[in-house]
Amino acid sequence: MRVKFGECLVELVQGDITSQQVDAIVNAANSQLAGGGGVDGAIHRMAGPSVMEETDRRYPEGCPTGSAVASTAGNLSAKHIFHAVGPVWRGGNGGEPGQLQGAYRRCLELAVEHECESIAFPAISTGVYGYPMDLAAEHSLTSVRDFLQSQGQPSLVRFVLFNGGAFGAYARVLESMTDAH
Ligand code: APR
Repeated sequence: MRVKFGECLVELVQGDITSQQVDAIVNAANSQLAGGGGVDGAIHRMAGPSVMEETDRRYPEGCPTGSAVASTAGNLSAKHIFHAVGPVWRGGNGGEPGQLQGAYRRCLELAVEHECESIAFPAISTGVYGYPMDLAAEHSLTSVRDFLQSQGQPSLVRFVLFNGGAFGAYARVLESMTDAH
């Protein structure tokens, strides 16, 4: 599914984030940048050890929740990895929506700073961190739409959803945004 916001395209695909041919791939990291399973495990496995060496050296303090930091992409075909730290879901009253939106926004800012035309996101926080998929779809797509409408770049934002349930949740929200705009 593809929707245009001004000159920018938002695209939903079902698949594996590590195989995307884009300028920047976003990792669903933790605030220690310590690696893990899910997206984080898959990205580090495919990228190779140079990426963890780089983040250890450049970001010894890690990365706060709701933000992101950049590294090179090792063996991946992308040029950059943006390591984004989404919130752990604690019921929704602990600032989780703002933190999730902040993580997406910071990645888009990094994309602009690094002159990326295309970026691929996973559904940050919806795995181990327990963010409900329908709310994650709403909050992340709102953040991306607002950024694209105000900044007009990057040209392509792709969400890579791992299964049909995630794809459906994102598609419903994106569809409702096209009705509204
Ligand atoms: N490609 C795309 N999506 C994937 C992939 C993949 N290869 N692997 C898993 N997913 C999906 C999951 O199904 C989920 O919907 O990505 C979403 C995010 O799940 P997690 O990777 O568990 O990320 P998150 O919920 O943000 O938790 C982050 O998990 O791996 C650790 O180090 C990481 O501590 C951090 C925490």
